[in-house]
Parts: sequence; structure tokens; C-alpha cells
Amino acid sequence: APTKRKYVIAFSQCIGNDAWRKTMLEEMKRELSFYPDVEFLYRDAGGSNQQQVSQIRELMERHVDLLIVSPNEASPLTPIVDSVFREKVPVIVTDRKTASGLYHAYVGADNVAIGRLAGQYMRQLSSQRLNIGIMTGLRGSSASLERMKGLEQVVDSLPSMRIGITLHGDWTKNTAYTLAKTNLTALLKQDIVLAFNDQMAKGIQQAYAEAGYPDRKIVGIDALPGAGNGLEAVTDGILYASMLYPTGGAEAIRTAIAILEKNPFTRDNILGTLVIDKANAALMGLQSQKIKEQQEDIDKRQQLIAAQQEIYKNQQATLNTLGIS
Ligand code: FRU
Repeated sequence: APTKRKYVIAFSQCIGNDAWRKTMLEEMKRELSFYPDVEFLYRDAGGSNQQQVSQIRELMERHVDLLIVSPNEASPLTPIVDSVFREKVPVIVTDRKTASGLYHAYVGADNVAIGRLAGQYMRQLSSQRLNIGIMTGLRGSSASLERMKGLEQVVDSLPSMRIGITLHGDWTKNTAYTLAKTNLTALLKQDIVLAFNDQMAKGIQQAYAEAGYPDRKIVGIDALPGAGNGLEAVTDGILYASMLYPTGGAEAIRTAIAILEKNPFTRDNILGTLVIDKANAALMGLQSQKIKEQQEDIDKRQQLIAAQQEIYKNQQATLNTLGIS
């Protein structure tokens, strides 16, 4: 019979098919490779609140030891996540939050601060009155609500800055592209457009380029390294800038282990952010390439260790059957 794993960690992801969340999962798995006795259950809700609720319910029936969750939209996910919390199963909320704030730990950047940072950055690009266009993310997701809140704090405090048009996207490039096409005239009247993530920023840029305006200023959020992602788009001048939004996969697992091992842990693990634009994009790209290579090195070492452990186990088993050990 298989030996019982020491801990079961469940991760309920709101949507798993974009590069940012794939990176998050990779980071989690890499960190988990240091804890071979942890069983990891992963569920992808495909962007459906209902699906995420039922997946969390299913995970709870399996009596997991800890739940990591990135809630699709805050309100619809609040009752189920609260009930997990009340059952005293540790809950780590990552990237997006529920509406109640009932969790044992949060891992992610401060989205209000990111909204503020984007606003302040756009303001200092010009000394004139500034009209900005906004494309939000999925309306009920906390990341979108908080980014909007931060941005409004800046806009409300500056008479020289106003929001000329707000479009409601859903975090995807396709929707952003379609919305940008239908609202092209209004968007082009703005001095600059902020999309609440880089994929939507790229969708707007595509609509602009097709209409013959490839060089209008668009700012995004995420600055994810790798081909086809935001950091590259800034390096290539497709996007004007992006606010770095780390995925925090490794930190989420580290926090989970600390909670399970009853070690001290931080309740609010706020990941750093920073503006990426032409001035630092190339350097950031080089650094993340270097980190990637080092991580691949670590992966290789982990695989070697695992292979050695397997050999050792088999040898022990052989010795046992021979009655030697
Ligand atoms: C990925 C994503 C990111 C964004 C985050 C907000 O699914 O849309 O691009 O920063 O979610 O929760």
C-alpha cells in the first residue's frame, strides 16, 4: 500500500490557462520539489465562479490540510472560502482575495499600491493636462477593484488628470481587442491608456496597430518575463510600460509549509512591485533569463537527488529481501 503523505496541500486556481498563472504553478511545483512528502492537489476553475466553488467543496471532502486559493471573483467565492476558514483548515489567499478578508495568510502584491503607482507614473510622463483611458479586468475580481481604487486615489487628488473612458475587460487579450475596436475613436482621444494587465494592453495595441496607430502610449500590468509576455512587449516598444506583478508561487508554498509545520509566518506577504519601461526592461530581461537558468540548474539537481534516493530505496529493499539489513 502507498505510504500516507505527510501533508496534503490543495490549490484552487481561478483560471489556469494564461502565462502568468502557468508561471505561478511552475514556481509552486519547483518549491514543492523540496518537500517530497507533500501531496499537492491542483484544481483549475477555468474562470468560472461556480466551478471554483464546487472544486473547493470537493477538495474539502478530501480532508486536505491546507487550502491555497486565488478567487475568481471576490463575492461569489466568499461563502465557501469563509466556511473552509471556519472549519479551521488553514487558508492562504493568493493574488486575488475574497470579500470578507477571512484568511490565515495572503501572498501577493498590493494591488491598490499598483494602481497608485501606475497613476503616478502616467502623470509624470507629461506636464500637460492628462486624459487617461482605462481597461479594467474582470469586474468582481479583487485585483481589478483594488487597482481601480489605487488609480482613483491618484486621479482624485490631481485636477490635471482625468479618466476619459473606462472599458470593462475580463483580463483576456481577445476581449480587450474587441472592446478596443468598437471604442477606437474614444480611446484615441486619450493621451494614454492603462490596461489592468499586459494581455489586455496587447489586445488594445493590436487594435491600434490595425487602425494605423501602432505608437500610441499603452501601459499594462504584470511585466511577466518570457516570450510573448509583457516584459518582452515593453522591451520591444509594443507597450510603453508595465507595473511588475510577481506571481508569488514559491512564497505561497513556503508560507503553506510554515503554517503546517507550526513555524512562525507572516499574515500579509506583500510582494514588491516596480515600474518597467524602456529604461530598465532589457536589464530586467537579462536578470530573469539568468534566474531561469539557475532554476533549471536547481531542477536538474533535484532530479538527480530523486534518482539517487530511488536507487538507495531499491538497494534497501533488495537487502531486506535478502535478510541482510
Ligand atoms: C492572470 C491575471 C494577471 C493579472 C491577475 C489579476 O490570470 O489576469 O494578468 O495581473 O490575473 O488577478
